[in-house]
Amino acid sequence: PVDARLAGKHVLVTAGPTHEPIDPVRYIANRSSGKQGFAIAGALAALGARVTLVAGPVALPTPSGVTRIDVETAREMAAAVDAALPADAAVMVAAVADWHVEAAAQKLKKGDAAPLLHLSQNPDILAGVAQGARRPQLVVGFAAETERVIEHAVAKRARKNADWIVANDVSGDVMGGEANAVHLVSAAGVESWERASKADVARRLAKRIADAL
Ligand code: C5P
Repeated sequence: PVDARLAGKHVLVTAGPTHEPIDPVRYIANRSSGKQGFAIAGALAALGARVTLVAGPVALPTPSGVTRIDVETAREMAAAVDAALPADAAVMVAAVADWHVEAAAQKLKKGDAAPLLHLSQNPDILAGVAQGARRPQLVVGFAAETERVIEHAVAKRARKNADWIVANDVSGDVMGGEANAVHLVSAAGVESWERASKADVARRLAKRIADAL
């Protein structure tokens, strides 16, 4: 059922990894199936929001009612996010690669010496949106952590100027799996949600976004 509070609201979602090419056949990336971000985009659209999903390279169908923009690199994702603003809310679920390399035009050959990769910083898309002039009313970031999950999420929320950080403990089998155990970190404190399917986490978060807008 549609939620009247989301009628006419534009929500921007990023999902998936980014791939940073080394040469035409190789890349560096973070692990990400895109499942949680796609589920959130789908849940928001099901509640009646207008959803723009900026997706890195993933093998997932576009959720019903969602406008999808496919990108490969972090720099492309940043440009697509910028082009999709303004939005009432932004939910940045993508596992953006932190660095890129100057990609070689031709496939690198396996010689005697392994190539050295020179890594350059990628833009922080979440921080850019949350600190930008066209900041959405609600900015939600994600934090995948393997230790001291809540402590890191609280610090991340402040550092990135996000309203909420959804923190998940990825030390177990969350990666690529169907379930997720998350903590919602906001100005009000920390709420720990019971382990649930990614679809249920998405529906619960979509309702909370409706509450906040
Ligand atoms: O800094 P870290 O990668 O741990 O923060 C995770 C959060 O920041 C996620 O919401 C992710 O989508 C976002 N992020 C981003 N651009 C980056 C790095 C992270 O939007 N370059």
